[in-house]
Parts: sequence; structure tokens; C-alpha cells
Amino acid sequence: MDQEKMGKFIAELRNEYGYTQKDIGDKLGITDNSVSKWERGINAPDIYYLKELAEIFHVTVQELLNGERKFKKKEVDKEHHHKVLEVKNLSKSFGKRKILKDITFDIYEGDIVGLIGPNGAGKTTLIKTILSLYHMDKGSVKICGHNIKKELEAALSQTGSIIENPDLYQNISGRKNLKITALINNIKDNDYIDAMVKFVKLEDRIDDKVKKYSLGMKQRLGLANALIKRPKLLILDEPTNGLDPMGIKELREILKKISHEENMSILISSHILSEVENICDRILIIDEGVVNSEFGIEEVKYKNISLEDEFFSKTKKDK
Ligand SMILES: Nc1ncnc2c1ncn2[C@@H]1O[C@H](COP(=O)(O)OP(=O)(O)OP(=O)(O)O)[C@@H](O)[C@H]1O
Ligand SMILES: [Mg+2]
Repeated sequence: MDQEKMGKFIAELRNEYGYTQKDIGDKLGITDNSVSKWERGINAPDIYYLKELAEIFHVTVQELLNGERKFKKKEVDKEHHHKVLEVKNLSKSFGKRKILKDITFDIYEGDIVGLIGPNGAGKTTLIKTILSLYHMDKGSVKICGHNIKKELEAALSQTGSIIENPDLYQNISGRKNLKITALINNIKDNDYIDAMVKFVKLEDRIDDKVKKYSLGMKQRLGLANALIKRPKLLILDEPTNGLDPMGIKELREILKKISHEENMSILISSHILSEVENICDRILIIDEGVVNSEFGIEEVKYKNISLEDEFFSKTKKDK
């Protein structure tokens, strides 16, 4: 963290929004002198004030710490900062075994949320239950305000997903797969299909039969397929499975880009902590069917703790 750079950035944002130092001080319940000290790089705000400042200026805490915007300015209207996914007191058993235990969390527009937890923790079950592929015992799931029990079609029309392996027709070309998805979802814009193909870098192979694709190519096609209907919520269960380091890097860039350009929310489960740390804004740790920790990634970075330590401290080791 470059304190001086951060200070200048705070001053810049304050001017952009037309606030005085006193306005900011009043909002935070501190003196204008303290704000002035931050801006001159004499002091740095602690995490509590950083979070408040990030809210006021519609930037992330990480951007404040870096002293610059990472992405182009997002027009965030707090009034319409929609909840894209609402999971409330969700429980699910298989036979007598309780797999998900009273899970509650929300995902807002544009959030990239990482779901991490040991093998068998319940990640895939949670994702499948959210998508109504499994029946829940108790609780509720709303996608863009639509309750999956009452308005399943409306809820799923806002959702794109890849669970375990992408759902693709193997005996036809990649392009035909995308066209079928477009047809089902009433999307007539062929240019958009082409744009998606380019986006996932499959231009050269898109007219080959899917069965001839490598695993990584199938993953990319699966992603294009999930994005065709421009979902508000994208759910990916271990999307980096089978991707090479280059593919992982590209996927990360694609997801960040699409989330910021389209304001899409993403729920992504992964075992690769460094990836999650790189891409996500928020993390949920699930262990034995319980979400026992939820935090912003900037907290990890700011406190200088590693996600790995956090993971081990929040999951039971003696299994
Ligand atoms: N269809 C099923 N029938 C019975 N039990 C199941 C079923 N699917 C999953 N389970 C059990 O539910 C628990 C959670 O499994 P789940 O696949 O959700 O874990 P996960 O967190 O996705 O693990 P991984 O990291 O290995 O993918 C496991 O104990 C598993 O055996
Ligand atoms: Mg799984």
C-alpha cells in the first residue's frame, strides 16, 4: 500500500463527487482534519473507514488501497443495487444424512463470490439445490426476486451454469450447440453468438464436432453456452477443472471482464485458493454443510492473512 497514492486517490474521488472534507468527516463521524491527514498521506484509514469510503465512492477497498481504479467506473445506483441471489435457511438431506444445514447468504449485482470447502463439504449439492436440480427440505432460494419454488422458469431464465461438466451435444459442432441454446432462449442475434465464440477464443474450432474438442475447449464452449442468454447470475462448479495454466488465466480474465462489463454476478466453486483470491470479491467457506465464514477478499489482503490459513482455520481437519 502506497499511503500517499491512496490519499491522493481519496481526494480525487471526493472532488469527483463534490464532497468537502467536512462532508466526508460527517458521514464517517470523524473530523475533517482526519480526512485531510488521509488525503495528505500522513495517516491511512483503518479497514472500517476504508469500507465506508469504498461505499461512498463506489469503488472497492482494494482499489482504494491501490490508489487507482482497476476497472472503468461502474454506474452503481445503490437504490437499485439488486440482490441477484438470496439463499435463506436452506437445508437438504440425502436419506438420513444432512448435507446442507441452514445455509443463508446473498449475492448482489456484479459480485463475484467464491465458494470454497473440502471434498464432500456440500458445494455441488448447494449449487444443484439453488438451480432446483435437487429438491430442498427447508428454506428458500430467490434468483432476481423469483422464488424457485413458485417461479422456476423466470428464475432460471436469469441463470447460466456449468456444473461438473458442461452440458453439450457431442455429435454436432460447437456452433450448433450455441445456436440450439439461442433458439431455446429466443435469442436471434447471430452477431452475439459470434462475439461469444470470439470471447472464449474458439473461432478456429467452432465448426468442429464437440466430441473432437479437448477438455479445455469443452469448458470454454460450455462457458459461451452459459453466457448466450446473458444471465444475471452465472454459476460455475469448479470451472478450471481440466484447464491448462493459460486456460485458467484466460478464464479469469473472461470472467472479470464479463462481470464488470455486463454487471453479471458469479458464484464460483473452486479448490484453487489462489484463483479464488485472484478473481473473487467475496468468499464463502463451507464445511460439513455449514457456511461458517463469509468475508470480503480485501479483508484477507488488508490483514495480510492468507486465504489458505483462513481455509484451514475454518474447516475441520480431524476427519
Ligand atoms: N446424489 C447423492 N446421493 C447421496 N449422497 C450424495 C449425493 N450427492 C452428494 N452426496 C453426498 O453429499 C455430500 C456433499 O457432496 P458434494 O458433491 O456436494 O460435495 P462437494 O463440496 O461438491 O465436494 P467436491 O469438492 O469433492 O466436489 C457428500 O457426502 C456426498 O457423498
Ligand atoms: Mg463438487
